[in-house]
Amino acid sequence: MMFSEDFISELKERTNVEEIISEYVNISRKGKNLIGLCPFHAERTPSFCVYPNNGSFYCFGCGIGGDIITFLRLAEHFDYVEAVKYLAERVGMNAVVSDEENEVHKQKSLVYKVNRDAAKFFYNSLMSNRGVEALNYLKNRHILPKTVKHFGLGYAPPKGYALTDYLKRLGYSEEIIILANLATKTRYSKCRDRFEGRLMFPIIDVRGNVIAFGGRALKNEIPKYINTSDTPVFKKSSNLFALNFAKNSGQNKIILTEGYMDAVSLHQSGFPNTVAGLGTALTLGQVKLLGRYSDEVILSYDADEAGQKAAKKAMDMLRENGINVKVLSIPKAKDPDEYIRLNGKDGTIKFKNLIDNSKSDTEFKLESLKIKFDISSSEGKIKYLTEAAKVLSSCESAIERDIFSSKLCDETGINKSAISLQIEKYRKMNFKKHKKNEFKNISKLTAAINDKVNKEKRENLRAACAEESVLSCIINNPDIANNIFSRISEDEFVTDLNKRIYRSIKNFSEQNKSFDVSFLSEKEFSLEEIGRITKITCLYTPNMGTRESVNEYIDTLLEEKRKKNIKNENSESEIKKYIENLKKIKK
Ligand code: UTP
Ligand code: MN
Repeated sequence: MMFSEDFISELKERTNVEEIISEYVNISRKGKNLIGLCPFHAERTPSFCVYPNNGSFYCFGCGIGGDIITFLRLAEHFDYVEAVKYLAERVGMNAVVSDEENEVHKQKSLVYKVNRDAAKFFYNSLMSNRGVEALNYLKNRHILPKTVKHFGLGYAPPKGYALTDYLKRLGYSEEIIILANLATKTRYSKCRDRFEGRLMFPIIDVRGNVIAFGGRALKNEIPKYINTSDTPVFKKSSNLFALNFAKNSGQNKIILTEGYMDAVSLHQSGFPNTVAGLGTALTLGQVKLLGRYSDEVILSYDADEAGQKAAKKAMDMLRENGINVKVLSIPKAKDPDEYIRLNGKDGTIKFKNLIDNSKSDTEFKLESLKIKFDISSSEGKIKYLTEAAKVLSSCESAIERDIFSSKLCDETGINKSAISLQIEKYRKMNFKKHKKNEFKNISKLTAAINDKVNKEKRENLRAACAEESVLSCIINNPDIANNIFSRISEDEFVTDLNKRIYRSIKNFSEQNKSFDVSFLSEKEFSLEEIGRITKITCLYTPNMGTRESVNEYIDTLLEEKRKKNIKNENSESEIKKYIENLKKIKK
């Protein structure tokens, strides 16, 4: 045991779970508990629940849950010791642990340390004689010495062994150097530097640790950039370059660029709220990270086709995760870095203008559609309006939809109610598709989880989720309850636990009593089952109570039950066949 039980319980007692989790998730009060969008999977309707009374959390969407230590391990990729240390620091307790006690923790802290030493080495190389070529390169790209220092840019010498040799002299083992992906084993099982003859960009996390590097070729070598692969302290898909600075910029808008150089040159020009992706398409992890530090993201991707395509994808992801999106279009330059450079001393002011005139994602999409179609012809008009209605159907704000519908109506002379009708049609379709996807995602995510309380859930995931949704609606909304009671009988339930819960709620209702777990007897439900009922109760959000949703749940339930019956019939008839065959053989 690394920490005593007393230590952990005191730590938990002193910790304000609600305060910590709300640094990651926008949670709002729902009775005694809190609810919000899950930080661990993509969703539009909140299913992430925090229970302040016992300091736990649970996501009904993906099934992830636990205490605050689990939460930090998931959210920060901390190991157990790191999570405890972090909490202890927050509440002023002293978490003493010797590294020998924990192998994982020891390795991770060594990787952090070796990365920091590598960054120092790269920086010093850049400043030494051998860094002249790289320094000149930076000069040609108008990067000032103070910017080099600010970002800790560096130079990885060529020929393959300089860094490894240096780190070994400092006492690091080959194992750690390789674990940090600063070197790789060659065919002759020698340890060779991963970065050779490259300009180095250290990637620093929000707590100030050097976690990885990006290395740019100085000439036209391919690949242009090499990045650290995933290591125990670095996951490309959940980090952003320069977020360590942007998070302290005092602004709640973040400019998102594609490249390291774009971010560096925007910082230099007075936009410290800029970050860059790490060479991959924007990932969910990065979106969630952006959401923690900003409520609006200004997309400033490359002007080429690939960049614009990536921007469109990013727009949708950001919007779906509740982040406002603005889109910059950069005239006469391939990327923000070039734009700044081409505009010389006016670069800052001109870029600021671009930001001030940036369009919302909706505006941006509509304008790109308008160019695509010839709206002077009826055919073009129809195509334009149909596509535009699709775009507007994903706006959650009715005001936004109305404003843009009016605009479309002015542009095309088509009746606004016709446009609105079309939008509503697509909204209904989206809703269906979205629900379907949600089910799919939930199934995927929970497939691996063995539900110990409702043992049949694993085998009947879709049915069980629909059942729980129905139950949650009944418990939380008596108006819906009677409607549901009249539409489904308990025989329609697939899993036994949910069937029993349904029966019990119905009993309460028939006696004109409102359902309350405190009145359930031990004989009816075990403690775990009561816990489950509580979870089902908390699952409710107002969205679930709409007629559309309830119909969806009931349809799913009936469909799953039907499937199940067919399956049972099949297996029954198979058994019959088998027995008949046996008889024949005997004869
Ligand atoms: P770009 O090729 O647009 O690079 O790639 P850039 O940032 O404009 O680079 P400069 O201005 O030529 O120096 C955008 C981003 O894609 C990733 C890098 O993160 C880069 O910043 N990338 C690109 C790679 O990871 N590998 C590559 O080979 C190329
Ligand atoms: Mn560039």
